[in-house]
Amino acid sequence: MRPQSLGREVTMNPVFAVVTAAGSGTRLGYDMPKALVELAGETLVERAVRGMQVLPEIVGIVVTAPVEVISDFEKIFEGVPEVCVVPGGTVRQLSVYNGLLEIPNLAKRLGYELTDSTPILIHDAARCLTPKRAISDVINALLDGCKAVLPALPVTDTQKIVDSKSATSSGIEIEKVSGQVDRAQLRAVQTPQGFHWATILEAHEIGAKRLRESGVDATDDGALVEQLGGDVYLTLGSEMSLKITTKLDMIIASELLKRDDLRAEQ
Ligand code: CTP
Ligand code: MG
Repeated sequence: MRPQSLGREVTMNPVFAVVTAAGSGTRLGYDMPKALVELAGETLVERAVRGMQVLPEIVGIVVTAPVEVISDFEKIFEGVPEVCVVPGGTVRQLSVYNGLLEIPNLAKRLGYELTDSTPILIHDAARCLTPKRAISDVINALLDGCKAVLPALPVTDTQKIVDSKSATSSGIEIEKVSGQVDRAQLRAVQTPQGFHWATILEAHEIGAKRLRESGVDATDDGALVEQLGGDVYLTLGSEMSLKITTKLDMIIASELLKRDDLRAEQ
């Protein structure tokens, strides 16, 4: 299915999104970037973008693409004015930053004004099955005044802290447990993570400087806001919002798509 322009009317509370798709997909192990791998006949990046386009308030989407195949991504979204493609960076954090820097241009082209509190969603193409409900909860919490909102799920496995690694006499690798975390306090965080425009732009500007100086990157955008001392809130994520990382995840995702009851999961 070709991505289509939805020809939207100008909305009162426009939301913009960055869909990160510039990773190589090493753990998935195909000979192409993960976002171009097809799941039930549609690439992960098209599926993720389409999943966001179903929300009428999301008026513009910036997709980050691997530099070496950027023209493949541009072809996919050719003729869709609300979607534009930018080159990704060496790590996810820099890809997101590149995507954010394009948002003012996209907003201008589409005739929207960007304000400090405009909601911005940052979503991984790898989470291409995220249901509408999980996305709109993040948007609504942002519109209600939260400046940083992450969808999350309670952790189901008991969690241990380990310190030293060693091996038994027959060579079995073992790790020594040093403690246990209270599972009830833990949450597993997903995407799309949502932020007010001024909050996420500042967090990424400072994060990019820190990365240049110390080489340390953040694996999620919420962490950059936390590092600035900003309040970060969680909404309920979804089990459908799994991140496709390995071949097993592809198998699970394609099975989920066959189930109408789960596809409708909210
Ligand atoms: N991503 C990105 N730019 C990077 C690295 C990752 O935009 N330099 C994106 C990926 O395309 C993905 C999301 O960030 O949608 C989460 O990353 P991950 O699941 O780790 O994907 P990959 O980096 O592609 O996979 P791997 O780590 O197995 O190589
Ligand atoms: Mg990665």
